[in-house]
Amino acid sequence: MNPDTRSFALGSYTSNVVFYDSISPLSISNASLVICDTNTEHIVESCGEAAHAPRMVLAPGESEKSMPVLESILRTAVEHGLSRGDTIVGIGGGVITDLVGFAASVYMRGCRLVLAPTSLLAMVDAAFGGKTGVNFSGYKNMVGTFYPATDVHIAPSVLASLPEREYRSGLGETIKNALLGDEELLGLLEREHQAVAARNPEVLREVIRRGLLVKCGIVEQDLTETGIRAFLNLGHTFAHALESVAGFGTWTHGEAVAWGTAKAARLGELLGITPSAYRTRIERLYSEYGFRLHAEASHELLIEAMWHDKKLKDGRLYFVVQSGVGQTQLVPVEANTLREVLSD
Ligand SMILES: NC(=O)c1ccc[n+]([C@@H]2O[C@H](COP(=O)([O-])OP(=O)(O)OC[C@H]3O[C@@H](n4cnc5c(N)ncnc54)[C@H](O)[C@@H]3O)[C@@H](O)[C@H]2O)c1
Repeated sequence: MNPDTRSFALGSYTSNVVFYDSISPLSISNASLVICDTNTEHIVESCGEAAHAPRMVLAPGESEKSMPVLESILRTAVEHGLSRGDTIVGIGGGVITDLVGFAASVYMRGCRLVLAPTSLLAMVDAAFGGKTGVNFSGYKNMVGTFYPATDVHIAPSVLASLPEREYRSGLGETIKNALLGDEELLGLLEREHQAVAARNPEVLREVIRRGLLVKCGIVEQDLTETGIRAFLNLGHTFAHALESVAGFGTWTHGEAVAWGTAKAARLGELLGITPSAYRTRIERLYSEYGFRLHAEASHELLIEAMWHDKKLKDGRLYFVVQSGVGQTQLVPVEANTLREVLSD
């Protein structure tokens, strides 16, 4: 295996993250079935041995994260005679990694899973940590499992073809990860803004590596989200509400997370937890990367949507707020405080 491999113990699983250098192509062997979408198939064509394995190419987009598509993957696995020891490989963005992860977790009660994320968002977030799933009955990620991949291949070179808006969406989550636990990454994102925006290979590799390691550190302590894994939801209660009120697709997930993280900073400030200087730092950074920090949406509809979010405990809404980089807490919040935050 590539020498730059880090192993993480996730519950009873071990998940290896293989970090490639900034220019090497993806190289995957021992694949029994490769699943990608039409936008990532060109990456499969040049990914070594796995390019010759049986392949299933899906349409791109969130609508593929569904039970019927899951079933078609399982049927394909049966048709190719895959056994429990065989490996299903997912090469794509978060839609592919969530869907393929779910399929591998239930195929013969769990076969080998290898993931190669091809979007920035999937690299720093979706592909690592074992959360798999499909959308069901109108709800996102309603059905799924915790099933970490055996190997996660992080090859920054595959980002060359990622559309600009998707790239920026990934930066929204990457900045959030930096806030959760890596002051050096935050400084790098501030100092090297131009290089990051231009996808400078060396800078990008370091940004991805550090962004992902923040997530690894958190998930290693709490695979099934009984505690600190919830911190990864910084900005997400706001973000999910905006995505649903504005209509899915109006804001990308990362754009909504940027807006939501800035709102969480304002919320923390109102509650006397977040220093004003830290809030300003967050807003400045997101603005520098061109994220919109103002949303035209009904405050009452946003608050209603928050009540439908999964971060509801004891009938109260809980939010992740911070007093500084890596200093994070979960606090209950009243609707009137939210109205004040949304009015700003
Ligand atoms: N499991 C988790 O922990 C977790 C965490 C965050 C997000 N997610 C899930 O991830 C999904 C979003 O992921 P996403 O933003 O990667 O979306 P996505 O998978 O839809 O990818 C975005 C678009 O970029 C295209 N694409 C991806 N890589 C490409 C490349 N290298 N070149 C050209 N085109 C490329 C895709 O085909 C798609 O059209 C959501 O379903 C979300 O629920 C899961």
